[in-house]
Amino acid sequence: MILAANFKANKTRQETQAYMAVVESFVSANDISDTVIVFPPFTALEHISRNVLIGVQNGYPVQNGAYTGEIALEQLEEFDIRTILIGHSERRHIMKESQELIAEKFRFFAEQGFIIVYCVGEPLAVRQEGEGKLMAYVEAQFEGIDLTYPDLIIAYEPVWAIGTGLTPSMEEIERVHDALRLQTTAPILYGGSVKVENAGAIMALNNVDGVLVGSAALSAHDFCEMIAEAVQLNTDKA
Ligand code: PGA
Repeated sequence: MILAANFKANKTRQETQAYMAVVESFVSANDISDTVIVFPPFTALEHISRNVLIGVQNGYPVQNGAYTGEIALEQLEEFDIRTILIGHSERRHIMKESQELIAEKFRFFAEQGFIIVYCVGEPLAVRQEGEGKLMAYVEAQFEGIDLTYPDLIIAYEPVWAIGTGLTPSMEEIERVHDALRLQTTAPILYGGSVKVENAGAIMALNNVDGVLVGSAALSAHDFCEMIAEAVQLNTDKA
């Protein structure tokens, strides 16, 4: 299983350090072999992790240069960052990132060999039009994306489920993941209002290879509980 915590614009550097200490001790004390990824804010990247991957929530697809307010490869390399989140719905919808820019970021960071967690997901209006429309919407989000890239991780996150406490039913999640599985062999995470209470059931579904968690992962204790649920499933799912 892959468990990823997306902090978004939450936590200070100090809070991130305290969080990492809890999660890293949990991972080593329990000999966790699942992949654990944390995406802190840029200001909290200075951390040499022992057993947890540290990734960035965004990056500008250039080595360096005149891009005011952006963080490029040169700055990420200084912190040994090799993992990036691309196409998150908050960047698509709030920051208005186009599929073209997203695909450009994908190409650039894939060329650099980054582990890419690539997010897709539909708004509520699209979901209400039925699963055919939903899949067509998600397929358009794969435009310009190499689904055979070896270090690709897909995250399916319905926009209406992010930060709302709402989730699709277990059957609905499974149907989308089954459909995505026909297009890629990459691990497929589910994201959108995942919490301690539902993480185990979601990870137990067919073709769900882990979870991408926002608000509920802000508590290190809760995130560790979700990791423990994944460990439990490793024996059940095998
Ligand atoms: P959420 O966010 O868990 O708060 O719904 C998930 C995400 O945006 O990755």
